Amino acid sequence: MLDGKKSLFSGMQATGTITLGNYLGALKNWVEIEDEYMCFYGVVDMHSITVRQDPKLLRKNARNLLMLYIAAGLDPEKNCIYYQSHVSAHAELGWILNCFTYMGEMNRMTQFKDKAAKHADNINCGLFTYPILMAADILLFQSDVVPVGIDQRQHLEICRDIAIRFNNIYGDVFTIPEAYVGKTGAKIMSLQEPTKKMSKSDTNPNAHILLLDEPAVIMKKFKRAVTDSEGRIAYNEDQPGIHNLIDIYCATTKSSVESALAEFDGLGYGALKQRVGEAVVAELEPVQKKFYDLSKNKDYIDQIIKNNGEKAAYYAGKTLRKVQRKVGFPDRIR
Ligand code: TYM
Repeated sequence: MLDGKKSLFSGMQATGTITLGNYLGALKNWVEIEDEYMCFYGVVDMHSITVRQDPKLLRKNARNLLMLYIAAGLDPEKNCIYYQSHVSAHAELGWILNCFTYMGEMNRMTQFKDKAAKHADNINCGLFTYPILMAADILLFQSDVVPVGIDQRQHLEICRDIAIRFNNIYGDVFTIPEAYVGKTGAKIMSLQEPTKKMSKSDTNPNAHILLLDEPAVIMKKFKRAVTDSEGRIAYNEDQPGIHNLIDIYCATTKSSVESALAEFDGLGYGALKQRVGEAVVAELEPVQKKFYDLSKNKDYIDQIIKNNGEKAAYYAGKTLRKVQRKVGFPDRIR
């Protein structure tokens, strides 16, 4: 809760163009809850440097991501859209929470294990303590809910554990957040290996749809999507490729699985892929158009970055000062 209104934080990494998975699992849901909560959406560039980045590219990707948030429908007047690195309270609370988190807890994080395996040459401490910075992001804004895809659930659990531990020692400091995972689209899979999560870091470009892929590219990628040899459209775990296409369709069009199955009745796999591809193109075309319009409007975007950065710093600063007092840091002299 902030100023008597329910609040939330969520964010995305600024490492390359986001995927259809990021969009359906998170961003599309964000747009739907903007009236219910005081919303803070970070472009989490501080998280991004846990993996080596080209500085120029990181800056460009961060700005593009911020514009994509708006292009996808987030109203920057209602939602505080900002760069995490512009609000130093993230790092400051992150440090304090480091001292309230156990090595054993971090050792259990599956995402760390996956990323450490992928980046064996750079297993840095930031990668290890990443979930603690994430907890700081969430707790700074006294978030009631955190809208994310399923892959972030474990990080949400640890955030809750840290917050509860802190509250048990110091009283009611943090709101304990709940994960908010959408009914469909919470885990969109790779188009090439449908038992694996769709991820922008996948080296096979046919495995993912990127939000700025052109319509012809999107259609081609769906055409190449891996299915199976069953030859029937059903929604079950034994047909992960078809299951994923149906999930994408339902999350995109907001249909139920039942009505999608009725619509696809009697279709072959080729026609199914065509339908799903067309639905995704129809969904993303207006987002892309708005994105390119926004790209031409430098001053408008700069203003949003400045104003929202200040707003985020104001609310984050309030929580941080409360925490600093609780742990015993001396008061500032004014
Ligand atoms: P990131 O950047 O990997 O993903 C951003 C959001 O997209 C969701 N997502 C997916 N949903 C469905 N299917 C997929 N294939 C898929 N891939 C990604 C993620 O669940 C996420 O909601 N650590 C976070 C960023 C972060 C954060 C936070 C999130 C930093 N601080 C605080 C919430 C609260 C991450 O790397 O997300």
